[in-house]
Amino acid sequence: TVPSSGTGELTGALQASRIAGAAERHGTPLWVYDAARIRSQITRLRRFDVIRFAQKACSNIHVLRLMREEGVLVDAVSEGELERALAAGYVPGGPEQPVVLTADVLGRSTLRRVVELGVPVNAGSPQMLEQIGRAAPGHPVWIRINPGFGHGHSRKTNTGGEHSKHGIWHEHLAESLELVDRHRLDLVGLHMHIGSGADYGHLEQVCETMVKQVRLTGRDVRAISAGGGLSVPYAPGDPELDTDRYFRLWDAARQELVSELGHPVRLEIEPGRFLVAGSGVLAAEVQARKPMGGNHFVLVDAGFNDLMRPAMYGSSHQVSVLSPAGEVRDSAVLDTVLAGPLCESGDVFTQTAAGEVQPVPLPWAEIGDLVVFHDTGAYGASMSSNYNSRPLIPEVLLDGADTRLIRRRQTVRELLELETGLPG
Ligand code: LLP
Repeated sequence: TVPSSGTGELTGALQASRIAGAAERHGTPLWVYDAARIRSQITRLRRFDVIRFAQKACSNIHVLRLMREEGVLVDAVSEGELERALAAGYVPGGPEQPVVLTADVLGRSTLRRVVELGVPVNAGSPQMLEQIGRAAPGHPVWIRINPGFGHGHSRKTNTGGEHSKHGIWHEHLAESLELVDRHRLDLVGLHMHIGSGADYGHLEQVCETMVKQVRLTGRDVRAISAGGGLSVPYAPGDPELDTDRYFRLWDAARQELVSELGHPVRLEIEPGRFLVAGSGVLAAEVQARKPMGGNHFVLVDAGFNDLMRPAMYGSSHQVSVLSPAGEVRDSAVLDTVLAGPLCESGDVFTQTAAGEVQPVPLPWAEIGDLVVFHDTGAYGASMSSNYNSRPLIPEVLLDGADTRLIRRRQTVRELLELETGLPG
């Protein structure tokens, strides 16, 4: 995909003046989220029996707490995410299974923790069924199927087919069920995360495959999970997902199973991006303007260690340029390459998937202005790193008139402490 970017509109609580206010108070770069927008996205999926948030998209404890208060359940993919769910007040156990752990393999300590807590695991390999079966016979499990085909916004996010490492290959379902039986594991349901986005023809194929796979188990499957991968519009002209149509396709698959099995089948959906992408922005400060031959570079104080998507996938995010006082600059338009401070040439926010620098039309930005990257609430903060020994940056949640710091800026001292003062 070629970045189409350029400027976009700020909507809801994410107003220029509030973003500039938060930047003034907490410094840049920083993440700003709009709670109301998260809630309205949740509302669009209420017809599903269970909305299970894939917290990898944005795992701040305060965001998880908001999800919990809205009745949204949660998926974890690591011990760290499991502890985040607990810290946000999710209590594992009971028929509702508020927390599920999805993985391809389990480390020893994660295995110990899921057994201790009775957290169901969504098994992505036969070995994982074996692991859990040996450690805790009777444990509740889901089976994540790789149906042999996939979808995704880039090669790196395609989640099915023979090039994907995820899930249990569809031809290995029978041997997986043998493991379930041998260890008397409690098979809760089947899961598939294919990510059809707004491609409803593809989605139909996924739904049909789910029905076939459940049939192949020959078991009393009580739940199915549609996985995540619900798309959001990043660029102007990208389609808004038709969530009713999405639900109807899955519901039809579920109804077919209900009539064959003769008991209710719970329908779960597991979105990450859909719930949080549009609710978040990254605000960075313009620190330099550098004409380089034919290219006009604008350097900001956020790098790909903060927002990795453009460097990793060639993803593009629309931006707004704000004056320090919080006025939107919309005057002159100049083809601009937006880049960060890292000591690496790929630290460019406007680039193609192949890594070519891609100028996009932007207003003239003064030093000290803010560049606001839109729709970065998903896979923004959660994919940040400490590369170049840069501390993690703050997160702020706007909730109505309230502006709340939900993560403070990490300090360099905290970074160094992992290495200094070691015992012995
Ligand atoms: N369920 C499972 C098992 C997943 O692996 C994922 C995402 C989701 C749900 C949620 O998918 P979503 O609804 O957010 O598309 N870092 C990439 C996306 C990687 C997604 C990995 N798995 C990005 O920035 O686009």
